[in-house]
Amino acid sequence: MSRIRVLTGITTTGTPHLGNYVGAIRPAVLASRDPRVDAFYFLADYHALIKCEDPLRIARSRLEIAATWLAAGLDPAQVCFYRQSDIPEIPELTWLLTCVTGKGLMNRAHAYKAATDANEAAGEDADAGVTMGLFSYPVLMAADILMFNAHRVPVGRDQIQHIEMARDIAARFNHLFGAGKSLFVLPEAQIEASVATLPGLDGRKMSKSYDNTIPLFQGGSKALREAIFKIVTDSRVPGEAKDPDSSALMVIFEAFASAEEAARLRTALQDGLGWGEAKQWVFDSIDRELAPMRARYDELIAQPQHLEAILAEGAAKARRTSTPFLAALRESVGLRKFGSAQSADTVSKAAKPQLPEFKQFRESDGKFRFKLLDEQGTVLLQSHAFDSPKQIGQLIAAWRTTAQLSQDDLQQIDAAADHAAVLGALQRLIAAQGE
Ligand code: TRP
Repeated sequence: MSRIRVLTGITTTGTPHLGNYVGAIRPAVLASRDPRVDAFYFLADYHALIKCEDPLRIARSRLEIAATWLAAGLDPAQVCFYRQSDIPEIPELTWLLTCVTGKGLMNRAHAYKAATDANEAAGEDADAGVTMGLFSYPVLMAADILMFNAHRVPVGRDQIQHIEMARDIAARFNHLFGAGKSLFVLPEAQIEASVATLPGLDGRKMSKSYDNTIPLFQGGSKALREAIFKIVTDSRVPGEAKDPDSSALMVIFEAFASAEEAARLRTALQDGLGWGEAKQWVFDSIDRELAPMRARYDELIAQPQHLEAILAEGAAKARRTSTPFLAALRESVGLRKFGSAQSADTVSKAAKPQLPEFKQFRESDGKFRFKLLDEQGTVLLQSHAFDSPKQIGQLIAAWRTTAQLSQDDLQQIDAAADHAAVLGALQRLIAAQGE
């Protein structure tokens, strides 16, 4: 049995902090070691360009984030680890998908709507400052996922809508070009029920936008210690009983300590341990976990050529899948070599399920009727009763040769049918016969 393919993207903006490590990096690295999964992890650096126009920051951030994931234990021999921008098939697929993606679907994307809502509230043009990159963000993300036919995509809740859009786009592409088969797997979002969100220095969610973060590797153990000593606590002095839950310190500690260790700190605080001593305790525990990783991180950052080689190998591995798959997708949409084996008649055969169809049937009254269905299976016309199937056969044969069907003719067969839709379907049928 083939393994479940799990894929996730890491947007390369900012410098990773402790909250990123606990909430995303550490669990993802653990999950990548599951032998039942075939894991794809990549740096979404094309996505980063949407949010940042500073080349130096882009370059710095993707280097730091690549080094962080490897230092945190991601094993490139076990998972496919690559940069999105090293896979030229991804932007190519993005275009194929863009051509089948409804603009209306993109109009509903949360990130885009948030931008237009904010503009409208400020009395500006709804699309002020909105780039096509932001608008098409979900299509690029769909290409990331569909390129590798991922079954599961571990993401935060804010990304669920994007996975649903990827499914919609995949289903539409399959319908249009799959010739009855599925070209793309329909991906599913995998939401970690217990995703830890770490509080920051002030107790709110740790986030760059609140300026309350604790650095992961940046600045070494000195910066880590300094940040931990800035965690907000009350002003109780040593010897006074403290409520361990009155500060973010305890939750941050619990993300690194065993249950017993956490219980010991709780009791010690209730018994009057000073906040300063408690902070030293927390620092020691976190630094124990991070120190070996930080050493690896510093090594990697100091040898960018080595990182480059690891990522080049990851890209080569990923392209062993994406290159042949994109070639097949190009074929399926009709971007074929002239005179290739996919000649015109195999084309129309392959396209057969995509044509309108007549269906004849006999009902319990013993009479014969027929329907005309369009490519999506929608009934365009439903005939009145005929005494013999032969009458129907002659009628259909005549229509299929001339596509001349007056409104009056149609009225007699099905008063409710839409003349233009029926005529259009007939014309498509006739055009397909000619191929
Ligand atoms: N949009 C995702 C985020 O902000 C990052 C991302 C890009 C991604 N492409 C992806 C995640 C493909 C999963 C799959 O978190």
